[in-house]
Amino acid sequence: MLALRERAAHPRRVAGARPVTAVPGLAPPGAAGLPPGDILLEARGIRTYFPVREGLLRRTVGHVQAVDGVDIRIGRGETLGLVGESGCGKSTLGRTLIRLIEPSEGEIEFDGMDLMALSRRRLKATRREMQIIFQDSVGSLDPRMRVKDIVGEGLAVHGTPRRERAERVAAVLDRVGLGAETLRRYPHQFSGGQRQRIGIARALVLQPKLIVADEPVSALDVSIQSQVLNLLVELKRAFGLTYLFVAHDLAVVGYIADRVAVMYLGKIVELASSSDLFARPLHPYTMALLSAIPTPDPTRARSRITLSGDVPSPVNPPSGCRFRTRCPIAEAICAELEPPLQSHGAGHEAACHFAGTPITGHAAGRAGS
Ligand SMILES: Nc1ncnc2c1ncn2[C@@H]1O[C@H](COP(=O)(O)OP(=O)(O)OP(=O)(O)O)[C@@H](O)[C@H]1O
Ligand code: SF4
Ligand SMILES: [Mg+2]
Repeated sequence: MLALRERAAHPRRVAGARPVTAVPGLAPPGAAGLPPGDILLEARGIRTYFPVREGLLRRTVGHVQAVDGVDIRIGRGETLGLVGESGCGKSTLGRTLIRLIEPSEGEIEFDGMDLMALSRRRLKATRREMQIIFQDSVGSLDPRMRVKDIVGEGLAVHGTPRRERAERVAAVLDRVGLGAETLRRYPHQFSGGQRQRIGIARALVLQPKLIVADEPVSALDVSIQSQVLNLLVELKRAFGLTYLFVAHDLAVVGYIADRVAVMYLGKIVELASSSDLFARPLHPYTMALLSAIPTPDPTRARSRITLSGDVPSPVNPPSGCRFRTRCPIAEAICAELEPPLQSHGAGHEAACHFAGTPITGHAAGRAGS
């Protein structure tokens, strides 16, 4: 979690810093750091708004702008991490990209198909290629169903014969480390880590191309987290999977992802390869997230950047840059002009008028102070 501090801290950016000019035309939006090759999923201009209703007549009085203008590309075989604080729109974006939630606007191309143009029938057939591991391993498993039926449900929906279904369910459970004795058990008979393995098996059994892993380890103990993460890495290698890996913990994302997209209040504010993001964060929000990661060596601890205030409401986001109400280096221009996500070279995109400006002063203190 980010440490929050009162706005009175009144931090400053480095004196004399000027708005940074991006390097234009180096990569199409959402493709920063992506090696040349096959794109499995490309989304352009995604907006997902939820109506806010009030009164007896449930009139729409506004919209939650959960995802507001996202361009993203996911390369075949890569793990793209998606990170940001609670409520910034990660789950909504992940679900929208596989059309579990209908976007209010935007285009999605999956494996060469226009996902938005698919009929209900074609969408159902395509669904097996895009699976999701849900954030809540308890709520997402029906407590009245046995494991064999939970994992086999997708196969049944797609018309797989009973005998083949049983064989595939047993094989996939074995693959995720659950033995044949688990087939007839119910979800409440398992630990958190085992339940997440059931969720992984349910996604994997359909032999998908893309898996949206929505915070698959956030609710688990640290020791179990690494087991599940290692399992995901191993399965990806074995089955040639592509992941969109959602988390609020940048350290977890950095461990598993090839590239990382940082999200704030419905928008992607930075996108880069994991190594580049950790070595050269450009957006103040990313710098703050990184500064909160504990380092094992206290002599090399990063200066902790504390952010003031709470995340604003996505119903009525701030003008200009959405991060400006909490940004330690905000200037007048930030309230007037929205910074676009622009390339800053070496496969790195950021949406900030002062991208790369180091944060000094009261906003950055020694870690733990
Ligand atoms: N069905 C819905 N109806 C109305 N608002 C919604 C709905 N789903 C999500 N929201 C709102 O959209 C915003 C983004 O929510 P989302 O669940 O995508 O965030 P998140 O980044 O996944 O958060 P967390 O880390 O807590 O899972 C939040 O303000 C949330 O309250
Ligand atoms: S554009 Fe946004 S992130 Fe960049 S300095 Fe201004 S307020 Fe901060
Ligand atoms: Mg979520």
